Amino acid sequence: MRKQKILVTGAAGFIGGNLCERLIGEGYRVVGLDNLSVGTLENVRPEVDFHAVDIRRKNISWFFRDVDAVFHLAAKNCLPDCLASPHEMCDININGTVNVLEASKAHGVKKFVYADSSAVYEDLDDFPSRVEKVAPRGAYAISKHSGAMFAKMYETFFGINVTILRYFNVYGPAQDYRRVTSPVVGAFIMKMLSGENPTIYGDGNKRRDFVHIDDVNDFHLLTLKDRRSDGRVFNIGSGANYSISEIYDLVVDLLGLEMPPKPIYQEELSREAEVTLVDISETLELGWKPKTEITDGIRDSVEYLRHVMDKDRNLLAEDFGAI
Ligand SMILES: NC(=O)c1ccc[n+]([C@@H]2O[C@H](COP(=O)([O-])OP(=O)(O)OC[C@H]3O[C@@H](n4cnc5c(N)ncnc54)[C@H](O)[C@@H]3O)[C@@H](O)[C@H]2O)c1
Repeated sequence: MRKQKILVTGAAGFIGGNLCERLIGEGYRVVGLDNLSVGTLENVRPEVDFHAVDIRRKNISWFFRDVDAVFHLAAKNCLPDCLASPHEMCDININGTVNVLEASKAHGVKKFVYADSSAVYEDLDDFPSRVEKVAPRGAYAISKHSGAMFAKMYETFFGINVTILRYFNVYGPAQDYRRVTSPVVGAFIMKMLSGENPTIYGDGNKRRDFVHIDDVNDFHLLTLKDRRSDGRVFNIGSGANYSISEIYDLVVDLLGLEMPPKPIYQEELSREAEVTLVDISETLELGWKPKTEITDGIRDSVEYLRHVMDKDRNLLAEDFGAI
């Protein structure tokens, strides 16, 4: 039987790289697109038919030949960058999305999974957030929601089966720790492993709903197999939240640090929501549920980043050895 062919945009990024790996493991053929603006080739498995292209390129439809389903993950998603460069953000998150939708339409793609964000709930304070009501406020949230609306439009007018996934704080191995404002779990671990003081933006009381990448990938697979996911929006979180300070303490515990470093508190960079907490009743209804406990999930990230640091140290030692 012909293996299904899945195209993933943002394939060299955190979620995309992990998703491609999982899809390969499940026997799918995988095409990956990424302009490597943020993502790295280290995240791309050799089995992926990878192309370093920008989703805004006009002739990308060539890559969509014989594709059964698309996961559209490529986006500009660093909040301060989005605020600083709104034109570029819209160009990638809205025009780029339309370009990917056009290419999908041109090649009769049956299924389109769009990466939306919990940021669309940022101006609401009734928790847990349910899928029916959104109130995007910041530039990033508005651009992501616009992309989702375009995806719905292609479903209505052109018959592509669309599933919108609103990710909450996804964490796990291969999350980008190199950015100036990198996602919190990896940033804390990396700083502490390097003997530096991690930065907390704000007072550490913001609460976030964290969900592990393995659980997210379980749902990704479900969207390919279960037709009940067609035409629907799902919240992808765990239904429990933790403050940034609690995550800090968890990382300290897991690293077993005798002298835990003190965080450096800095002013918030963008006005993010105080709380995120998700209602996952719709995802549970489809038989999915998050399995990874936060401690196990963070331990996973610690192991991954320890390995990355050891590799970097060995490379550095080899470089010095060669001089
Ligand atoms: N990680 C999360 O917690 C989270 C939460 C909510 C929403 N999301 C959404 O999920 C998706 C994936 O997030 P991630 O955490 O893996 O981010 P990421 O930054 O690791 O991955 C995004 C990838 O898109 C690529 N990219 C950016 N602009 C591009 C362009 N013009 N053409 C081609 N490739 C381009 C980047 O190089 C990067 O590899 C994004 O759409 C993001 O908005 C993520």
